[in-house]
Amino acid sequence: MTDRGGIFAGDDPFEIVRSWMKEAEASEPNDPNAIALATADASGMPDVRMVLLKDVDGQGEDGSFVFYTNYDSAKGQQLAQNAQAAFVMHWKSLRRQIRVRGEVVREDGPQADAYYDSRALQSRLGAWASAQSRPLDSRTSLMTEVAKVGLRHGTAPSRPPFWGGFRIRPTQIEFWADGAFRLHDRFVWTRNTQSKWAIQRLCP
Ligand SMILES: Cc1cc2nc3c(=O)[nH]c(=O)nc-3n(C[C@H](O)[C@H](O)[C@H](O)COP(=O)(O)O)c2cc1C
Repeated sequence: MTDRGGIFAGDDPFEIVRSWMKEAEASEPNDPNAIALATADASGMPDVRMVLLKDVDGQGEDGSFVFYTNYDSAKGQQLAQNAQAAFVMHWKSLRRQIRVRGEVVREDGPQADAYYDSRALQSRLGAWASAQSRPLDSRTSLMTEVAKVGLRHGTAPSRPPFWGGFRIRPTQIEFWADGAFRLHDRFVWTRNTQSKWAIQRLCP
């Protein structure tokens, strides 16, 4: 690829993701790590919502992306039925987007424990108290539940068994940057499970 320079340069797509996210940290007003996460249920019906991308792990063919959530939530159930996901991050301040598609596995071990333990106590208790995506009578019932789990779990709650990470192992990553007169730059990196990344420039 002769004309892939500047912000698109490099042999490791995860390095490019990290470098764009670092730029976004400086320019976005909040949540530069927010992603719109798409999942689909067993029938193929899509769904999408924002989550925070907490880890960009590894490199080259071994890299992956991790977010955290409630395993019994709508997205958790959809991923149990169909372990594939896509996400997009878009930064208005940079006029850039990154799109990812891949296979999903649970990140349910020490890395999830460490992330859970790093969160504010109220957030840790909130994870216990909220039956995410299921019906709730009132805000008062939620706050009562938070108080109850506080009494039950104290100030050092362990990670709930129904809460943890999902790791996306990408088979496709696309980098997009705004160009003059809608002549944007797009580079798509694709790989099959065994193969190396192949890089292709796409028409905007
Ligand atoms: C900026 C932003 C970040 C969010 N981050 C998370 C997150 O990291 N994990 C999560 O479970 N929900 C997060 N949410 C809430 C989700 O968008 C969603 O409401 C919730 O996860 C339930 O989705 P579901 O019913 O499709 O499972 C976030 C919402 C916004 C707007």
